[in-house]
Amino acid sequence: MATLTNSSPPYDTLLTGGDLIDGTGHRAYKADLAIKGERIAAIGDLKNVRVREAIDITGQCVAPGFIDTHTHDDQACMSVVHMEPKVSQGVTTVVVGNCGVSLAPLDLPATLPEPINLLGSRFDFRYKNFRSYFDAVASSNPSTNVVALIGHSSLRVAAMQDVDRVAQPGEIDTMVQMVDEAMKAGASGLSSGVFYPIGSAADNSEIIPLVQKTAEHGGIYASHMRNEHDDVIDAMDEVFEAARRGGSPLLISHHKCAGARNWGRSRETLELLDSVRKSQDVSVDMYPYDAASSVLDPELIDEATPVLITWSTPHPEVSGRYLSEIAQEWDCSNSDAARKVCPAGACYFFMSEDDIERIIQHPSAMIGSDGLPMDQHPHPRLWGTFPRVIRKYALERGLFSIEEAIRKMTSLPAHRFDLHDRGTLRQGNYADLVVFDPATIADRATYENPKQTAAGVNFVFVNGGLSWENNTRTSTNYGLLLRHE
Ligand code: ZN
Ligand code: CU
Repeated sequence: MATLTNSSPPYDTLLTGGDLIDGTGHRAYKADLAIKGERIAAIGDLKNVRVREAIDITGQCVAPGFIDTHTHDDQACMSVVHMEPKVSQGVTTVVVGNCGVSLAPLDLPATLPEPINLLGSRFDFRYKNFRSYFDAVASSNPSTNVVALIGHSSLRVAAMQDVDRVAQPGEIDTMVQMVDEAMKAGASGLSSGVFYPIGSAADNSEIIPLVQKTAEHGGIYASHMRNEHDDVIDAMDEVFEAARRGGSPLLISHHKCAGARNWGRSRETLELLDSVRKSQDVSVDMYPYDAASSVLDPELIDEATPVLITWSTPHPEVSGRYLSEIAQEWDCSNSDAARKVCPAGACYFFMSEDDIERIIQHPSAMIGSDGLPMDQHPHPRLWGTFPRVIRKYALERGLFSIEEAIRKMTSLPAHRFDLHDRGTLRQGNYADLVVFDPATIADRATYENPKQTAAGVNFVFVNGGLSWENNTRTSTNYGLLLRHE
């Protein structure tokens, strides 16, 4: 790194000699890029400009910072403010509040219902409304930008005495008001997780009024659908209806066809998606791995699906081990062992690579890590998702160009979440940037050893501030809370 010492240089940082991948899907091209303050100030041949700091990145690529569309960083963005698992991959914006679970509006009792416990401990749930949650995020100085969804299950816990039934009209009114408050405070949409017990009693008569209120404020509806196994088509129809009648764009979360007997059915689901996309604004997100990860549900255990324990309250010593090994050691069935280690988290190896490849190529498919930052032995997607899309699916498997991989991780989600001045390399946009070496970029996190930074991610800028340099985080955080307007 060379430091030039001219007086009052017009630019703060200059990246010279790199290949620019602008996020739109267009071919990479050679140009210099200058940053001033929080913004991209100029792009072009900038050899002779005055600058505070010039970085020669010949041979490397510059892309917009990655937008992680599906996270559970609601608490982590405040308590683990450096967010190393994300920044180290080149992620500069995270979307929190997915799968129906958000920290606000909740003020919770001693025992946290699953899957709300994925987000943190009960002491973290003290945000009675979105305004107070947003104030806390904004003042916590996170290292990435934060976009937030309202979790439908959290609304249920806040508004209902008994979540085992569909909400009554008065409770729906309360939830609608909560959505209104959250959207006015700057939330970007609503998420549901009717797959999980605390959301599953809800049907569309409860959800549609909430989607309607979200749509009034221009927000989106994201859903962890009721079923990703045998009944995936019915589950898709349910969310299509909610979004259509509620009037909002739809985002199907972590789309998959789970369970060996459903392998290959992404042909069917994507065909349905394409036909619905003719009349409705629908997209999907996904993570590039064949194992899912969530709370451990003994009901989902069969003897055929390998299951890796990611945390366990009664048996923390088993995290990082396979359930079948534990069952063998304890001389019991897999499901008995699962019951013994609960409450716990797990990775379920129940997807086929063939479906992953088909879904990731879909033009609407964005990338969401779904990483669980509080897990003791997390799924590797927490640390590896974005470099893995480039290394494995673009460069090794050749499913699409590197430019298309970048589009899926930048301009596509920026458009989906109305981030108007992010997601592309354009003069005047915020300088959320990742500089990587295409020859070496790769995920290093594995199921055995998941807490590993990626290779080849050399510099990351968040709002113009250098946040990651040569495999080390810098000492200052530059992330912003991004309120939807
Ligand atoms: Zn989910
Ligand atoms: Cu999720």
